[in-house]
Amino acid sequence: MATTNKSATLTFDGKTIELPMMSPTAGPDVIDIRKLYAQGDVFTYDPGFTSTAATDSAITFIDGDKGELLYRGYPIEQLAEKSHFLEVCYLLLYGELPSATEMVDFEARVTNHTMVHEQMHYFFRGFRRDSHPMATMVGVVGAMSAFYHDSLDISDQWQREVAAIRMIAKLPTIAAMAYKYSIGQPFIYPKNSLDYASNFLHMCFAVPSQDYVPDPTLAKALDRIMMLHADHEQNASTSTVRLAGSSGANPFACIAAGIACLWGPAHGGANQACLEMLREIGSVDRIPEFIARAKDKNDPFRLMGFGHRVYKNFDPRAKVMKESADEVLDLMGVHNNPLLQIAKELEKIALEDPYFIEKKLYPNVDFYSGIILEAMGFPTSMFTPIFALSRTVGWISQWKEMITDPNQKIGRPRQLYIGETTRNYVDVSNR
Ligand code: SDX
Repeated sequence: MATTNKSATLTFDGKTIELPMMSPTAGPDVIDIRKLYAQGDVFTYDPGFTSTAATDSAITFIDGDKGELLYRGYPIEQLAEKSHFLEVCYLLLYGELPSATEMVDFEARVTNHTMVHEQMHYFFRGFRRDSHPMATMVGVVGAMSAFYHDSLDISDQWQREVAAIRMIAKLPTIAAMAYKYSIGQPFIYPKNSLDYASNFLHMCFAVPSQDYVPDPTLAKALDRIMMLHADHEQNASTSTVRLAGSSGANPFACIAAGIACLWGPAHGGANQACLEMLREIGSVDRIPEFIARAKDKNDPFRLMGFGHRVYKNFDPRAKVMKESADEVLDLMGVHNNPLLQIAKELEKIALEDPYFIEKKLYPNVDFYSGIILEAMGFPTSMFTPIFALSRTVGWISQWKEMITDPNQKIGRPRQLYIGETTRNYVDVSNR
């Protein structure tokens, strides 16, 4: 981390405090406030972390104004076009693109961990068939620490590595099992002869009674969607994983916490909410009604798939996703998909509306992903599980970075207390 000889001076209550500043390799400088409370007896206040860097990291960088996203310095557009998901997993985990030999070895390690402990099949039986697959995933991934006792010791580098490989390998299997369980079909075992995305399609859509060959174009489109979702700086679910990990919790428990956080409609749940919104809009001529609702301060309705804390320009992932939508829908012979027409018209109208222009609200990664996933045959309830299995490598990479940081300590924010000051207990007879 590059420090600078710059500093910030805070003057208040007759005190003057010099705070050192640090310069990143990209993005804004930071003011190091770690000594502020000790020196000034004050806290900073930033409930949504709008101006707060919670950590330093070398994994992903977003330039929100330019609409740029880098994984270990590589632009997402180049990776989406030239790479594939498991290679991106290697890049995020280890910091460099793999050699051909390293890639073969990594793929073999992941492939050989795709099955789950047979006893886990019974774990699913405890859920109702109509459970949301995200509920099942939170439960089953959290329970992985009850099955894989040889990769729980976070102080052991080898065990951390095995836990990382296991989760990248098994999350698709668990997500597919959650889907199969929800539709009453038998679980389909992973096939080592298939690539990562094809294997997921196989586990979701194959049935024992007939052969199933995953469509290579769909698999490539799904692989691209996974790459686009792999990591994204210190978003809410990644921050949840880091905070859980800072207590020393085992990696499976941390990833389960991340899945739980991702489920929210303001975060990874937006892809499901967006498609449901497009369905509710129902036709292009109802778009103005929903735009008006999104702008109405008294209406809690928001355009799902629109807006972002960091991007104040196009989300580069949404651009790639929009190109993919046309490609997949053409392949599926779904021309003039009504939801895609509504989405494109909604985007056009919103981007010309002063409200969205002034607030710099653009489509985000969730705006088009649901349209593609639905065209592939996934129900809306599987959109966020697919986001979760894709983001697992990002969560694990960020967790590893935190665990191996020599300055790492438990995360413990303070607060601005606005409750009652000390008061004495009153007996119920006097209340
Ligand atoms: C993801 O952090 C990440 O990196 C997340 C993610 C990742 O890869 O991990 O990119 C994945 O979560 C993408 C975002 C998915 N969520 C949605 O699409 C839900 C709809 N969008 C919003 O709820 C909202 O835009 C957020 C949650 C994404 C961002 O919220 P912020 O940064 O807290 O912004 P805000 O709520 O303060 O909004 C700023 C203004 C507000 O108006 P004012 O109070 O200033 O008058 O913009 C308005 C908001 O009302 N606004 C919207 C809007 N989003 C923001 N108005 C209408 N529709 C919207 N979608």
